Amino acid sequence: MTLAPEAPIPASSLIGTAPPSPAGPIDAAEAARYPVPPMVELPRVLQTLRFNQRQIDFVFGGRRRLGETFRFAGIVDGDPVITSHPDHVQSLFTAKPEQAPSLTGESPLRPIVGPNSVLTAIGPRHMRQRKLLLPSFHGEAIAKYMEMIADAADREIDKWPVGETIALAPRMQAITLDVIMSGIFGIEGKPERGTPEHALRRAVRGLVEASTWKTAQLAELMNIGRDEPVGITKYALGFLDRPTYQVIAERRQASDLEERRDILSLLLQARTEEGEALSDQELRDELLTLVLAGHETTANSLSWTWERLVRTPDAHDRLRDAVRGGDDAESAKVVEQTIQEAMRSRPVIPIIGRRVKLPWRLGDYAVPADTPVTMSILLLHHREDVYPDPFAFRPERWEGNKPGTYTWIPFGGGIRRCLGAALAMAEMRVVLETMARRLDITYETPEPERAVHRNVTMIPSGGATVRIVSKRA
Ligand code: HEM
Repeated sequence: MTLAPEAPIPASSLIGTAPPSPAGPIDAAEAARYPVPPMVELPRVLQTLRFNQRQIDFVFGGRRRLGETFRFAGIVDGDPVITSHPDHVQSLFTAKPEQAPSLTGESPLRPIVGPNSVLTAIGPRHMRQRKLLLPSFHGEAIAKYMEMIADAADREIDKWPVGETIALAPRMQAITLDVIMSGIFGIEGKPERGTPEHALRRAVRGLVEASTWKTAQLAELMNIGRDEPVGITKYALGFLDRPTYQVIAERRQASDLEERRDILSLLLQARTEEGEALSDQELRDELLTLVLAGHETTANSLSWTWERLVRTPDAHDRLRDAVRGGDDAESAKVVEQTIQEAMRSRPVIPIIGRRVKLPWRLGDYAVPADTPVTMSILLLHHREDVYPDPFAFRPERWEGNKPGTYTWIPFGGGIRRCLGAALAMAEMRVVLETMARRLDITYETPEPERAVHRNVTMIPSGGATVRIVSKRA
């Protein structure tokens, strides 16, 4: 299925509200009064396969046949529920941590980043890791990266051939990798061959590339439910772990540690409330989490933005005019609206989940304790009542409208909201503005690129293939 536009409606009525649907923890007696959500009627194996390989067809089909809340047979224990109502989302985002822990604790990433990283830990351990990392991701901390991001974008754009067809995704990844290496590890530019920094950069690139291979996806399935990696994953991680530990050891000895602003240096100096420092293993787990969570997501979000822009001339012209018009406030506004709309219509992480620890009401239904409840970001972002004309790419729908906490959730929400959201937004603003200012870009084929699923992300099937028509210095 493609996410195709429907007949356009006026910009003034492009954001609406959903009718109320009560949700939240209830006692068992009350839960017994409501039915469980309807189940997708397909053999279990087929459901799991469809969900993993063709999630768009699967969730839109489920919603069409069964409504906004339904169950399916997934790879996590219990039959997961999929919901796309903002009130249900709110109940999960505002629940106490012990009532609805994140499903990332059960994700295939767990053996790779370890059970104690901020992504996979749950409960008090998660809050501790999150508190340690938060200061590195505040607006102020991010502001100092802006210049570095602009340099990385300019350097990359300088290399792009005019008149030729290129896939943007790998080029966006080159930029976001530079930003990650600099912001997280404090490694600027291309490190010298033979140094641990050089080996680390190569290993990160290799790991991200290898994650697209079919064998890697199989290996990932083998690792589900484990704390330690096995097989090929274990072998591959060795290439990454060796230079990571070397870089950590070097940095511990650095005489300028206190002046350094990269996240590794900040974490080396960080202490928990009990006054404890992070161990090397904890540092490695946290750093790898940030690399994996932040590098491809941002690159693919940018790729999707261009995949949409080149196929939506009105939006593309509006962006170019604003960026080149000389009015900084107008430019910043339109860049922001364009990113918000791209993340609405193509959320790179299309689904997130929690495991409810109490019976939970979800509108007309209720589920028993221990049920995995997932929120389809994709379905929520395509609700007709919240986003009229949902399949159209219309950045102007954000004119005078702020994204809603429970209706625009590309970064998730609550105590698990993406830690890198401010960094990702900063990267996207700078890169999008620089590209719109310096480049005239068009599509290679007018058909929209399909969404394909890689690990937990949704990426454009052609890597956002475009042709660079002209380039400014
Ligand atoms: C466009 C880019 C990005 C998108 C769309 C994105 C999206 C998300 C989503 C949906 C979650 C799960 C939230 C939930 O379950 O409620 C998440 C978590 C997380 N993200 Fe991002 N992310 C992006 C970039 C980044 C960057 C740049 C970093 C860091 C360098 C990062 C670090 C994290 C971390 C550490 C978590 C786990 C937070 C926790 O569990 O407390 N992300 N992200």
